[in-house]
Amino acid sequence: MATIYCTATSLDGYIADDEESLSWLFATPAHDKDPGGRYGDGDSLDFDQFLPTVGAVVCGANTYAWVHRELTHDGQDFAWPYEQPSWIITHRDLDLPDGVRAHAGDVREVQAAATEAADGKDVWIVGGGDLAGQFADAGLLDKVWVHQTPVVLGAGAPLLPRRLRLRRERVERDGQFTAMLFEVVGPEPRRAGEVDGAAEVYAEG
Ligand SMILES: NC(=O)c1ccc[n+]([C@@H]2O[C@H](COP(=O)([O-])OP(=O)(O)OC[C@H]3O[C@@H](n4cnc5c(N)ncnc54)[C@H](OP(=O)(O)O)[C@@H]3O)[C@@H](O)[C@H]2O)c1
Repeated sequence: MATIYCTATSLDGYIADDEESLSWLFATPAHDKDPGGRYGDGDSLDFDQFLPTVGAVVCGANTYAWVHRELTHDGQDFAWPYEQPSWIITHRDLDLPDGVRAHAGDVREVQAAATEAADGKDVWIVGGGDLAGQFADAGLLDKVWVHQTPVVLGAGAPLLPRRLRLRRERVERDGQFTAMLFEVVGPEPRRAGEVDGAAEVYAEG
């Protein structure tokens, strides 16, 4: 099992625009099944194939609020869209649906609970970026999986506001998206003399 931050991002590294909108994401076509891509082969970086591997979900308060708004804007009752045990990371006093718990503070505690609940499957960090960063700060973020969208937004909610070295594991086309899976190596040093360390990371294979 792994702890994976899986999200869509603009080319310039935003997961929502400066009005908290994802219209740019939903306007992007996916799944063209281009023979040069890998979608549809049963082992691809497709979100539909990721979800069954997820055993627990961890989501920040603003992302939860966005999901709530999206799913209730026509007056429907709210239902959390994921059946996996889920945690919303927040200081707010939220009225959460069954199976969804709140947690505030140190993400190491929620990581332990989510890992146990996931029972060998992956833990999905939905976002936002700083929440994923808190897991990285604690050395608990294993992978970053992005669907990069061919749009630049100029401002918005940042993808992962940390200084981290990643190692690319896979890259695929999915319609107009570029799907990329990275392993998190660790903090990226600032001193020039340590830059050779990056070469060693990639030299290992
Ligand atoms: N492109 C995509 O696929 C994608 C994916 C995910 C999210 N999004 C969007 O991106 C935006 C993300 O918003 P965001 O960057 O503000 O991130 P967020 O993680 O959703 O929300 C941040 C808030 O979570 C709470 N929080 C974070 N860490 C906490 C901790 N350790 N303990 C207690 N509370 C904590 C705080 O709010 P309180 O203190 O008020 O509780 C904080 O202000 C949303 O608009 C969302 O819809 C897009």
